[in-house]
Amino acid sequence: MTTAVPIQPRKVHFDVSSVPRHWNGGDPVLTRFFDALSLHFPDGERFFIESVRNYQDKVTDKGLREDIRHFIRQEGQHGIVHDRFNDVMKSQGVDVDKAIANMRVVLRTTQKYLPKKYQLAMTAAFEHFTATLGEAMISDEENMFREADPVMRAMFLWHGVEEVEHKAVAYDVYQGAAGGGYLIRASSLIVATLMVHVIVAPVFMNMLRLDGVLGKPGVMLRGLNKLYGRKGILTGMLPEFLAWFRPGFHPWDTGMPEKVAAWLSEYESHGDPLRASETIYGAPAVQAAA
Ligand SMILES: [Fe+2]
Ligand SMILES: [Fe+2]
Repeated sequence: MTTAVPIQPRKVHFDVSSVPRHWNGGDPVLTRFFDALSLHFPDGERFFIESVRNYQDKVTDKGLREDIRHFIRQEGQHGIVHDRFNDVMKSQGVDVDKAIANMRVVLRTTQKYLPKKYQLAMTAAFEHFTATLGEAMISDEENMFREADPVMRAMFLWHGVEEVEHKAVAYDVYQGAAGGGYLIRASSLIVATLMVHVIVAPVFMNMLRLDGVLGKPGVMLRGLNKLYGRKGILTGMLPEFLAWFRPGFHPWDTGMPEKVAAWLSEYESHGDPLRASETIYGAPAVQAAA
């Protein structure tokens, strides 16, 4: 099965030079959660590209070959944009280089010791996470970016939309060219989820330590509740996330969310991700505190 929509790489630019330190509504926990993810995207996405490339020549379906090309260009562009934001985090005192070096050790070890098929299954699993997060970003705006800095909000929304657009590419390559199989697929999401926690959680905590938040239990609890509480961002994603374990699962089972389609047609008409973001969220209600 190829994608439900044609995948389109978009060359976008975000001026992140004057983004406030706690750009997500002044909430350090909610900000640093997305910062910690963002920091790891460029190298993570390069790993995804390499995993899919390993099987590129075995794909015979013309449509899927085209999708792979666009998937690679989209992920490459995501890396460029998030790399720029890494420079901003460096200027805030975040030890970006050390975090990336640690991640590279894990990724190189994975590439050295795990079979290529497993690397691809993990990529499909990571892509399931990013697409689920992307869909939730757009549908769940009340929770995620309601009071966020407009540039950051637009950046994550653009990335989230493209994750939805290409959500089935790695999965389809895994099922087809790599031979598929349920057990490898199911276990790969467990391994990928553990990996995200092992790699990202310490960086998230270090950022909060740097910001002096670890000693403020009220701020920590309020922020963590927005992530893991009953109505939290991550809790809300759980049903879609766990759908991966259904034997007949396919990423397009959830179809194209209405707001993603709205973003796509809006962007198509003017090519401005900030304006497209405003169509989805409305004008920023409150400017984020520094
Ligand atoms: Fe991406
Ligand atoms: Fe992706």
